[in-house]
Amino acid sequence: MVPAKVGYHGAFNQVSIEDLPVPLAQFETVFWDPRDTPSLRKLMRETEVVKGKRVLEIGTGTGLLALCSIRAGAMSAVATDINSNAVLNARFNATLLGFEKRLEVRQVELARPGAYEVIRSEEQFDVIISNPPWVNRVPQRIDEFALYDASFNLMRTLLDGLPKYLRPGGKALLAYGCVDGIKTLKAECAKRGYPIRVIDDTRDLDKLPEEFLPGMLLEVTLR
Ligand SMILES: C[S@@+](CC[C@H](N)C(=O)[O-])C[C@H]1O[C@@H](n2cnc3c(N)ncnc32)[C@H](O)[C@@H]1O
Repeated sequence: MVPAKVGYHGAFNQVSIEDLPVPLAQFETVFWDPRDTPSLRKLMRETEVVKGKRVLEIGTGTGLLALCSIRAGAMSAVATDINSNAVLNARFNATLLGFEKRLEVRQVELARPGAYEVIRSEEQFDVIISNPPWVNRVPQRIDEFALYDASFNLMRTLLDGLPKYLRPGGKALLAYGCVDGIKTLKAECAKRGYPIRVIDDTRDLDKLPEEFLPGMLLEVTLR
């Protein structure tokens, strides 16, 4: 079934994931590797972490994590992406699942790539989720924005905005599979006084290769 009015005319793959009842579409240039996020999806599936909550996903790709949050009982989700095919892709998949009224997907402009540029100043969320780009390098093509976060600008702006955009008692759940990315994230949280912890993972960061799968899940709170 192809939902109408999607505005996308390229080819697409069908990709399956145990968390969702139907295969998703993956449009051209849009990221797909669910090995990044098994612990985040398991946490949403098996606990009440997003149940009845308002969720923000930064960098949604096919919509995978935002759709899993809704499937796990989130009240609503806003999802963003800088890749216009990803925005169309996530909307398409939301329609496939009948979740289009609970998931709003917003386009981030290349000229204003900060984590909250498309979030209104009065909006707040209980849970902010992201499987962001992990590697500190400058992306050259739109598909490379899935992998590279130049100077970790997305990470830094995401952390800077937490006091404004997280509801009291809220949390950010972030997946990273890169030693440099995780060490930088921990250092940036320490600078801001944010508690950070690895959830449900006993691997020793110093014994892992620079990039590894499955990704590690980190929880950032404000106190
Ligand atoms: C590793 S992919 C993850 C996609 C999806 N969440 C998943 O787990 O399959 C990272 C996503 O972040 C998007 N992205 C990169 N920079 C961004 C930015 N500044 N704002 C919003 N999305 C961004 C990329 O286009 C890509 O879709």
